[in-house]
Amino acid sequence: MTKGANNVDRSREWADLKERYLRPPSQRPTSSARGLHHFALLCNNVEETIIFYQDLLEMPLVELFENRDYQGSTHFFFDVGHGNYLAYFDFPGLYVGEYQEVIGGLHHIALSVEKSKWDRLVAKLETAGIEIQIVNDSSAYFAGPNGERLELLTYPLNDMYGNVIGAPAVDLITTLRSTGAVRQFTDEGVSDDVLFRILDSARFAPNGGNRQAWKVIAVKDKTLRTTLADLYAGPWAQYQALGAAGLTPWSPYGDRTAENEIIAEHERNAGSAQTTDEFVNALFNAPIVLAIVADLENLVATDRDLDRPTMAVGASIYPFAWNILLAARAEGLGGVITTMHVRIEPEVKNLLAIPDHFALAAVVVIGHPEQTISKLRRGAVDSFTTVDRFTGPALVELPNTHRTQP
Ligand SMILES: Cc1cc2nc3c(=O)[nH]c(=O)nc-3n(C[C@H](O)[C@H](O)[C@H](O)COP(=O)(O)O)c2cc1C
Repeated sequence: MTKGANNVDRSREWADLKERYLRPPSQRPTSSARGLHHFALLCNNVEETIIFYQDLLEMPLVELFENRDYQGSTHFFFDVGHGNYLAYFDFPGLYVGEYQEVIGGLHHIALSVEKSKWDRLVAKLETAGIEIQIVNDSSAYFAGPNGERLELLTYPLNDMYGNVIGAPAVDLITTLRSTGAVRQFTDEGVSDDVLFRILDSARFAPNGGNRQAWKVIAVKDKTLRTTLADLYAGPWAQYQALGAAGLTPWSPYGDRTAENEIIAEHERNAGSAQTTDEFVNALFNAPIVLAIVADLENLVATDRDLDRPTMAVGASIYPFAWNILLAARAEGLGGVITTMHVRIEPEVKNLLAIPDHFALAAVVVIGHPEQTISKLRRGAVDSFTTVDRFTGPALVELPNTHRTQP
């Protein structure tokens, strides 16, 4: 680290500022700003600047027009991802001095790129003879065509040296591919403000006939939560015992006699309940516990009269439950949809005073994830998609299929 001019230790001052102003993520208000619409800089030469960004840095030119406020001046924009743009002006005939560091001026612009792209762009800059300073194999500093200081860094958006800053912004495809079940949470609370925002976004879920037959009970009372945890433990232990015996627990076509024998055997051997307790307690220590119930009088079950359990009826409720988890993810939170309580619905209905014509669809728990979300394991597309007939050929990946992510 370079020594500062005054050689002072300011750590106490910084600790004090953090203490007084830096709120934990759950207590911060959302920013009034929608995002960085554009960041405007001055340039010498329009074409040189276009070639630098578009060809060398692979950040395309997206607009170019005359500056609204200065005749003959060009205003042009480069896409730097995430809906953000770097804009430039040239001012022909108006002498503007060289780039310099001044109070309130530009220090540097940091642009986040994936590591493989970072490697490629750094190599291109080197080939172009541009002087680069590399720090920690993750930051490359260099001057743009106008002397402006730029940084290419491999840290994702909202991540500074491995620490999440603010609510992580994740694009839709990444969100879909990585929103896994979270069952362990830190002690950090979640404010009602955040819960409100989550539900306010989740309510746009698709649902049959737009009947919105859902109701949500946010369970806050400590005793109710403890009872919910206790109620969960029974079916959960049975679920595990049935799974361990090689069955799909409570499959619609399951052999009830075989299931009952396994459960009875399990209950004679009650010793294995220890780890289950920890697991269940962790779930219900979540700062948000939501019982999601559905009004059976207001649900269309198109398959009601078929000779099998209805499938379609839940489809009007579970997208809503899933939207809750997606909206929670946008707040930097994680959680899981659970359905163990459905096994003992009468007790839960009694506990939470749920009217008769409502069904318990799920209990969703949400909080700050104890661990960052890992890669999810799912079957490949060709393992579940066929063409024209169930027995038809699998839909396979073509050599030129452009996957959004590996
Ligand atoms: C309808 C439904 C019911 C679920 N029930 C439970 C449950 O009762 N308990 C639980 O821990 N997880 C439950 N899950 C979460 C699943 O176990 C989880 O989505 C699945 O194992 C995939 O996990 P992953 O996304 O972390 O890979 C349920 C998920 C769904 C969609």
